[in-house]
Amino acid sequence: MKKILITRRLLKSNEEKVLKIFKANLNSNDELYSQQKLIELSKGCDGILTSITDQINEETINRLPDTIKIISNFAVGFGNIDLQAAKKKDIAITNTPDVLTDATAEIAMLLILGAARRASEGIEYAKNSSWKWSADFLIGKQLTGARLGILGMGRVGRAVAKLAKAFGMIIHYHNRSKLSPELEQGAIYHDSIKSLFSVSDILSINCPATKDTINIINKDSLEYFPTGAIITNSARGDMIEDEAMINALNKKKIYALGLDVYKNEPKLNPGYLNMKNVFILPHIGSATKETRTAMANLAIDNLDEFFKTGNCRNKVN
Ligand code: DGY
Repeated sequence: MKKILITRRLLKSNEEKVLKIFKANLNSNDELYSQQKLIELSKGCDGILTSITDQINEETINRLPDTIKIISNFAVGFGNIDLQAAKKKDIAITNTPDVLTDATAEIAMLLILGAARRASEGIEYAKNSSWKWSADFLIGKQLTGARLGILGMGRVGRAVAKLAKAFGMIIHYHNRSKLSPELEQGAIYHDSIKSLFSVSDILSINCPATKDTINIINKDSLEYFPTGAIITNSARGDMIEDEAMINALNKKKIYALGLDVYKNEPKLNPGYLNMKNVFILPHIGSATKETRTAMANLAIDNLDEFFKTGNCRNKVN
């Protein structure tokens, strides 16, 4: 039986499943392992099941025992792992695509609604019982007829487009390449971010963090948006330059911001703390029982497939 290190506690049914297939080193206290501890615990193991909270950089990879042949990341994103270093050491890296598409698209819609309809302010007023109804109380922006720019029209981007259409939004997108008409479903393609941002009443960021997308929302690109645009991010925090965003919110260039992800999680840039027009969640895009169960099952299946066949359909390096 192969031996696996599992760096974070999984849901009960997932841990039961893993123990049927592998000898597993579980983390029942859900402690955040240091690099040293992760390396120690992986001794004698054949693979590791990691989470987005594990920073598997080049140094960590180089210090892993040679018995480690696969790192199965319990996430669709894999920015926490140095793919090149893993490849050099002949360690396969896998992810969990598809199964979290709908849950993440739901959170993207929550961000859009929360930012557009001033949910943070509304919650505060309601909890303090400090409000009275009036015709102009907490006036927000309506989605019907608004142009939604989707940055990154992969699985999640397309799922957001489908939901947003039900709200009467008009879908525009930018992607590395134009999609086929079946995948586009009537969405309007823009071959540059400048062109997309300039028609985005609301932007939903759904692209992966790569060297091309890190800080893609910055002082210069914020100028491309119509004044009063809304920006939301349910992908990765790296895409937004926070100081530039805070400035744009203060100047009312940007009307509101919705974030499920941000730089240096869990430490939010203090500049956002007292802003009424930000609606921020703690990286819960995939946090439903169905989705987290499916993600961990897929991460376990990826390990199983790899050990049985020497390959895996969800290998990313
Ligand atoms: C992912 O799968 O990349 C999510 O962000 C993890 O919750």
